[in-house]
Formats: sequence, structure tokens, C-alpha cells
Amino acid sequence: MAKHDLDPNYLDPNYEPVVNHAGNNPFHEVLAARMQRRSVIKGTVGAALASIMGVGLAACASDGNSSSGNTNANSDNASATELGFKAVAVSAANQVVVPEGYSAQAFLPWGTPITGSYPAFRADASNSGEDQEQQIGMHHDGMHFFPIDQKAGGSSSTEGLLVMNHEYINPGALHPDGPTSADANGGVRPEDEVRKEIAAHGVSVVHIRQDSQGTWDVVFGSPFNRRITGGTEMDIRGPVRGYEKLITRFSPDATETRGTLNNCSMGPTPWGTYLTAEENWHGYFANSAGTQPREQARHGVGSSSRYDWELADNGADAYVRFDITPGAGNADEDYRNEANTFGYMVEIDPFTPESKPQKRTALGRFGHEGVIFAPVKEGQPVVCYSGDDSRFEYIYKFVSSQPYSAATAGGYLLDKGTLYVARFNEDGSGDWLALSLEDADFAAKVAAAEGTTVGEVAFDGFANQADVLLNTRLAADIAGATPMDRPEWGAVDPNTGEVYFTLTNNSQRTEEQTNAANPLAENRTGHIIRWAEENDDHAAVAFNWDIFVFAGEQGTETVVDGNTVVSLSDDNIFNSPDGLWFDYNGRLWIQTDGSDDAPYQNNMMLAANPVTREIKRFFVGPQGCEVTGVVTTPDVKTMFVNIQHPAADWPFGTEGDHPRDAAVIVTRDDGGVIGA
Ligand code: FEO
Ligand code: CA
Ligand code: CA
Repeated sequence: MAKHDLDPNYLDPNYEPVVNHAGNNPFHEVLAARMQRRSVIKGTVGAALASIMGVGLAACASDGNSSSGNTNANSDNASATELGFKAVAVSAANQVVVPEGYSAQAFLPWGTPITGSYPAFRADASNSGEDQEQQIGMHHDGMHFFPIDQKAGGSSSTEGLLVMNHEYINPGALHPDGPTSADANGGVRPEDEVRKEIAAHGVSVVHIRQDSQGTWDVVFGSPFNRRITGGTEMDIRGPVRGYEKLITRFSPDATETRGTLNNCSMGPTPWGTYLTAEENWHGYFANSAGTQPREQARHGVGSSSRYDWELADNGADAYVRFDITPGAGNADEDYRNEANTFGYMVEIDPFTPESKPQKRTALGRFGHEGVIFAPVKEGQPVVCYSGDDSRFEYIYKFVSSQPYSAATAGGYLLDKGTLYVARFNEDGSGDWLALSLEDADFAAKVAAAEGTTVGEVAFDGFANQADVLLNTRLAADIAGATPMDRPEWGAVDPNTGEVYFTLTNNSQRTEEQTNAANPLAENRTGHIIRWAEENDDHAAVAFNWDIFVFAGEQGTETVVDGNTVVSLSDDNIFNSPDGLWFDYNGRLWIQTDGSDDAPYQNNMMLAANPVTREIKRFFVGPQGCEVTGVVTTPDVKTMFVNIQHPAADWPFGTEGDHPRDAAVIVTRDDGGVIGA
């Protein structure tokens, strides 16, 4: 939420403290490299911006023909991805705006009953914690539509499982009169309030179907409907499973935990499961000890927790675990390690309702925004990318050890492999740096760093590969990764294989901290970066990158090799790109989570043609919201878009101030392909 970046406040659930003090990219390197830059951003927002240089790279620019060889879409001409709708204007209205010839309908608001006894939503927010465990959670975010016949090779566009994240909560809206503070209640919080807050987090799996009139609804009684919450039991998988620093009273053998929290973006896997990301999990825990271990300090865990769940008045084990202050005994007698069981990508199999979610630790532990898979190829490794959304954090890539086979593919592929972190070089090249003690370069850097201070951490080495992954950020610091302007969602172009990531903003980057991939000091509006892997091989350890677009006001130009490739106008000004998704035809959808002041007004979603870099505003959300999460049915004729934290009673009536997050269904009135 960019508007809060300007006034960081720990109580803001989106506040991401600057915890990377590693200071990669010494200034002299930046200065020397500037001489090689070939492109600039120009703008109308001030002299400072006009003189700031950006980077463009011809290697993955406008010809769009670096095919991944793994697509059934048209890769050779821009017409397949052209934008056929009329751009909508910015809007400050408390409603959704879509282009002429399109319609929008809100769907699955917070509190919609989807399972169990299907408890009806109460407009005064008086539903119990038990009710909330059977209802859609709050603060919808990443989302995917799985065709109901996907496992049989089908691609239904009229029935499927819509799976969505519930990132965090608005306690004021969740309870009839807001939350009961511990301070005003003898130091404790009512247990059912805590239960409800935990239940409003997590993931919903909703079986939905379109009737003959074209109306979508929940399939009541479907065995697939499911809530996964901040309390659902989960397995730890991959190299960190069983590591002593995950021992808790709940799981003395360090193989299990409870719940997934702050689930932001996501990624559907090639084998039909859903990976949900754990982003700002650090704020849920309280460690009142004087000093914190590096695996907490590097993430900003504080002495008090955001929601005080550890203070539930019944003292249940499910709640006291959020107090991670070490006790006097051993680790299996308390929850000093509970936070070490968070910060992962979590795999959920929506087609197997009784399945236990799996935390895939080989993909690293950080502020995961989401994950995006490269197209899979038989016999080749599985490759996926994940950004760490905090200021000056990094972009990662996982390459599986075992090859993909459609016949046997499954989550086990994510348990063994190499985690890399990105270094964006000043000349437009890039390197993937392995974070593996078996990698000679990394091992040498680790050895050299031992006994020194890395950032603010006195580094005394890694005990083993589990320790590397538990401390992924620290490992990336040592490897020499490039600190980015808050990497949010990624997307892979189905036509070219090029990988795109939003860098939402970073108002705290100084001029001295700029680098070619993050060239703006006080970057308040963000940009979108993209790269092509060497030889179109997603498992490669080198790549070439460029900046797809700088966000900003009217007249902001992205210039590559002296040519203006984008000049923003009334039709497409935007700020703080966040959600990012390629539809099945190859149009790129860009969602925003930024300032909703003039000239941008409410947050929005735009469509981009990756070949021509044409960008048009397609959708504007209601007041106060961020627009996050987008997916279509396989025929690209029904689009689902999530609206998170709308400020007012939109569009559902409630009693008092209980705004409801919701999805929005967008269709074309003539039944055509969205965006075409
Ligand atoms: Fe949850 Fe980084 O957005
Ligand atoms: Ca954001
Ligand atoms: Ca986001």
C-alpha cells in the first residue's frame, strides 16, 4: 500500500521496515557503469526526474521473437495481443469502472458462506469465529481459476475452483465495534475475536459454476469448498524440514506448523496445485527478549505483535505460540522458533480437499510476494521465480534438481533444487547467483564473510543448507544480489518466455543507492522490469534485462537507445504497479496499489501489449482499495479481479463501517475475449 510508504508505521499491516543494511552495489561501481547506459526516463514531474537515467536493453526489447518454444499462442505479431478496447479515464468514484461494452459484477465478498453449515453473513459483523471459519476471509489478494476438469486434461470455462488469498484483516470492520484492545481489557483479548481474526486470514477454495444465464455462483455442498486459515495444520517440506531451529512445542521434530499468514500473491503450479505466498508474516509475532536472532532481525520481527493474538484470554496453545520470546527451558517447551515456520511458499491441492498444505522451504524464506512458473518442458527442470517485497530486497529463482514429467509431476519437485538470487548488472546483463553451500562461488563468499558484519548481522557462518534457506535474505546479501525497489508480482510471457516483475516503489532509495535496474532515487511510482534468460533456457545462470516501463504522470517517457518506447498519457498514467499477470493470449495485466491522489485517483488495472508496449487503462476500482489478483477462465471470456480494503460500503450494504473486500467478475457484453 504505497500511500503508507510515506508515513511508515509499524501498526500498518503493510509496513515493511528496511531491514536490509547489506549495502550491496558500492557507489563507485554505479558511477562507472552509468557511462554505459543507453536509455533514460524523461518526465514532466520535475527537473530531478528529467535528468535521471534508466536502462533499456535491445536484447529483449521490441522484436518479441525470443520464443521459449513452449507456447501455443501467436508469437510473431502484435495483433494477437493488441488492445481492442477504449481506455477508461481515471476515476475517483466509489464504484468499479470498465470500458464501454463491458460489465462488472461483484462476487464472493468477505463473509460469504462457502462450507460447513454455511452461516449467513451478518451485516453488523457479529458472526463468530466459528462462522468465519466457514466463510470467505478478508482482504482478497492473489487468485487463480482451476477448470473443474483440469485433472482430466480439460479446460472448462464455465465451472472450476476459484482459489484466493486473504492477505490480512481490517479489525475495525471484522468486529461489530472494532477489536477489543488488550490494554483496555486487563492485558488480554477475547478469545473469539482472536479466533475470528485468524480465520479471516488464509486461503479460500470455492467451487463455482456458471448457469445458463451466465451467472456465476458458489456450488453449495461441494466437497471442494474449503477454508485454510492462520490455524490450519501444515507440513514443513524440503531442506528445512527437521532443522533444529524449527523445533516447537507443537512439533518437537520440526516437521509441522499451524497456519499460513499474510498471503499475498500466488502461483498455480504446472501440476494443478496452488502456491500461496507468506509476505509480511514478521508482524504477527512478538519477541520481547532484548536481542533477536538473525532469522528474526533480518525480517523486522518486533517486541509486540500487530494483532496481539498471543494475548487471547483463554491462553490456548494455538494463540500463545505468537509470543516467540524464548523461555527458560528447551526449544520444544516454547515457541521461540514459531516464526521460523513462516516465510515460505505453501502448496495447497485444491482438488484434494483433505490434503494437508505443504510449506516448500527449498524456495527460500523471505517476504514472498508470490511465485511464477516458467513453462515446463518434459525432461527439463521446473523453474519458478519469486520476489521479496520489501525495500531493497531481492528477486529469486528456483531450479529443480529433478526433471519435469507430466505423468509424475508433483510438489516433490519443489523440495530439491537450487535457489538463485538475481544480480542485475549495469550493462543490461544479469547473473543468477546460487545460494548453495555446494556452489564454489557461494561457499567462498560465505567463508570470506565469516567473522565480519553483514549489514547489521555479525556473521558466524551457516550451519548447513537448511540454515542458508532459513536465512535466505542474509545468504543473498553475501552472494551480492541487487537490492530492488520492492519486487511484487512476476509474470512470464507465454509467447516469448520473457519474465516481467513489478517494482512497486521505494521512496527511501537515495541517489547513492541507485543502480541501473533501480535508477530512481525516491522512486514513488515504480517501474516494471523484464528479462530474457540466456538461450531462452529458464534454468540458465545468465540473462539480459531491460525496463519495460516507468510508471508516473502524463509525459513520463521510457526511452530505449534514444527512442521513446512509452510516453504516458491520460489513457495510461499509473503508479505503484503490483499485481501482474499474462492472460492465456499474451496480454499483460498490470494492477496498482499506490497513491490514490490526483492525477492517478483510485487504484486501477491496465492492459499492456508486450510487443508494442502499448498500455491502456481497463479498470478502475472503488475508493480506498488496491486492485490485486486477476485471472480469467481459459477462454479469456470471464475475468475475476480482486478488490482489497475498499474504504466504504462498496458495493454491499452493511450496518456501520464494515466494508467488504470482494472479487469482481468482468465480462464483455458481446461475449467476446476480454481485452481483444
Ligand atoms: Fe502484499 Fe507486497 O503486497
Ligand atoms: Ca503493494
Ligand atoms: Ca501486492
